[in-house]
Amino acid sequence: MSTFNDKFLIVGGNELYGEVDVQTSKNAVLPILAGSILCDKPIVIKDVPNILDVHNMFAILRDLGVKLECDKDCVIDASDITNFTLNQDLCKTLRSSIFLLGPLLARFKRAVISFPGGCDIGNRPIDLHLNGLQKLGVKITNRHSQICCDGRGMKSGIVQLDFPSVGATENLMMSAMFLKGTTKLINVAKEPEVVDLQNFLNSMGASISGAGTAEITINGVNNLHSTQYAPIDDRIVAGTLMIATAITGGKIKLKHTNFKNNQSLIAKLSSVGCQIDIKRDNIYITSKGRLNSVDLIDTQVYPGFPTDMQAQMMSLQAVSNGVSIICENVFENRYKHAKELIKMGADIILRDRVAVVKGVAELNGAPVDATDLRAGAGLVLAGLKANGYTTINNVYHIDRGYENFENILKDLGADIKRV
Ligand code: UD1
Repeated sequence: MSTFNDKFLIVGGNELYGEVDVQTSKNAVLPILAGSILCDKPIVIKDVPNILDVHNMFAILRDLGVKLECDKDCVIDASDITNFTLNQDLCKTLRSSIFLLGPLLARFKRAVISFPGGCDIGNRPIDLHLNGLQKLGVKITNRHSQICCDGRGMKSGIVQLDFPSVGATENLMMSAMFLKGTTKLINVAKEPEVVDLQNFLNSMGASISGAGTAEITINGVNNLHSTQYAPIDDRIVAGTLMIATAITGGKIKLKHTNFKNNQSLIAKLSSVGCQIDIKRDNIYITSKGRLNSVDLIDTQVYPGFPTDMQAQMMSLQAVSNGVSIICENVFENRYKHAKELIKMGADIILRDRVAVVKGVAELNGAPVDATDLRAGAGLVLAGLKANGYTTINNVYHIDRGYENFENILKDLGADIKRV
């Protein structure tokens, strides 16, 4: 794993050619790992990616008393959990530590958590998680910056979310697993990772339906059984590699990836001149020369254009032919990469949630900072295109979500190394 001082050195200009087996989804595997503590028998999660966020989740699980062995496939035994208080320092490393709240309440009727850390891309409150749990009868008190949750009075019911938050949907789904009767969650997130969590929970004996639509129904069950589960592939990693090829030129094949989860990106890239072919679970993308700009990129909840692909698309727009308007609707502070791109010669104007990107003919390599996970990935893509040397600092942000990123790009022909 990376250290805080790791950097990427990139010499831009190479086209990308070759094949990539797309890693398992970070955003699917993190709630699934948290959900594994719902079961008091050992379970196996297949092909767990070797990324920093997963290691941080392992540390939190071990601190709770979970026994865990991982060599690609992960064997998890949560039969002996005795601790319902999440370690405050460990929670600061990982926003997804919040996913343990629902499972702890479901299984033990109590949980003490801290406000979670994670990427600095906005306020990222957890009010939707807490309000939803209160609707199901959880009593919540704040003590010494910790949130104490008492679920002894929990009852099934109806929860209407004010906004279809991915994390709140997943947390509430897990919290209601064992409640007698039927719980309905309304205006929920429809992301593929929510569907995957439902499939994982059902593979252990849960009775949940509706994920992928705006309403999820949970019929309480009494207990769960062991399972072996393979989470879905990472649509954001697949998308990042598609944009990498779009920006550098070349042709790559992405293997074992579900194109249906990336339709909004595929539509945008096709509309500006990339050739994209789908054969079963493979995506082939070809890009020749400078592409036209995408007129409007409006980030939305799924199936709209993903906020997690906004930074990578901004890098592509920075060198495209024309003007692109980007509107970030999901997070209020997700343009830190723009300042770094400007250091490389990009022409970008920012006003609140809107960025106007006027494509330039060339970017020039520069030392830049990866300010968060996807911002870092976007800057790597810009570096692959820029003239000369680009140094990316703080690559630990990138290591949170991309497995073996620099070696994958190197195998495709990029000149990139970790120092
Ligand atoms: C998940 C993804 C993240 C992605 C995001 C949006 C994981 C591990 N992470 O994050 O990669 O960028 O979905 O697709 O799956 N909000 C509130 N109150 C809450 C919860 C959220 O106001 O209680 C707001 C957030 O500040 C944000 C918006 O809702 O503005 C979306 O957040 P949410 O869907 O919850 O994202 P995460 O689950 O944190």
